[in-house]
Amino acid sequence: MTQQHVLVIGGSSGMGLALAARLLSTGRRVTIAGRSPDRLAAAAARLASPVTCVQADISVESQVAALTDDTLDHVVVTAADAVGAYAPLPSFTLTAATAVLATKVLGPWLVAKHLAPALCPGGSLTFTSGIAAYRPGSGASMIATANGALESLARSLALELAPIRVNVVSPGWVDTPIWDTLAGPAKHDRLSAMAAKLPTGRVGTPDDIAQAFLSLLDNPFITGTVLHADGGHRLV
Ligand SMILES: NC(=O)c1ccc[n+]([C@@H]2O[C@H](COP(=O)([O-])OP(=O)(O)OC[C@H]3O[C@@H](n4cnc5c(N)ncnc54)[C@H](OP(=O)(O)O)[C@@H]3O)[C@@H](O)[C@H]2O)c1
Repeated sequence: MTQQHVLVIGGSSGMGLALAARLLSTGRRVTIAGRSPDRLAAAAARLASPVTCVQADISVESQVAALTDDTLDHVVVTAADAVGAYAPLPSFTLTAATAVLATKVLGPWLVAKHLAPALCPGGSLTFTSGIAAYRPGSGASMIATANGALESLARSLALELAPIRVNVVSPGWVDTPIWDTLAGPAKHDRLSAMAAKLPTGRVGTPDDIAQAFLSLLDNPFITGTVLHADGGHRLV
């Protein structure tokens, strides 16, 4: 059997980095992409096996088109930038709102447009939405919008790109570096308060979400689906 090649856009941090580690441990070849070369280098240094690093911004079409000229078995997108993504409506600028949509919705659409032709038979695209689509909060209007739109996009692409499979993982609250931006010094308290509310009694780990991605990559009968890895957050 030939070695699978998986591209993880957002693989330099959080759940994307955890997925890269899982993919390497299962014998896959991995390429990780993100905007910061320093973050990519630090991620590569943390991984147990060599990975290819590509500097790219998912919201820039020419950079998505140039991501790889190699064949791919699977592409996973976890990219999102929390900076400016949460604000009360009166102070939410159109520029900030557009940036959220550009990264979380149009970025995956660009990935589908430019990378679907590089996918091998049996290949898949997997995107990352999130609990804000189901449990919206004040100041999270654009993230909620982006997550919902992304899930609709995936269902549409699952038909248009078939037999390529297109799925979404919707995480709940997961302890990743994104919370350093979202909550700063209040990170631990906010995550602990959420843990106490969840049926699982804890928030997610990056590896919980990596396992959810892997299950979608490995199951050839799943397409057009949203897999909720949220500790039961939608129930409370
Ligand atoms: N953590 C949570 O509690 C949570 C909950 C629900 C949903 N989610 C969703 O889960 C996904 C992963 O989040 P995470 O917590 O793992 O975040 P993270 O640790 O901040 O990692 C985000 C990754 O995306 C990359 N990235 C950001 N903007 C990019 C862009 N424009 N182009 C290319 N790469 C970009 C970052 O690298 P650079 O900054 O160097 O580009 C980084 O590698 C996101 O879509 C997030 O919205 C997270």
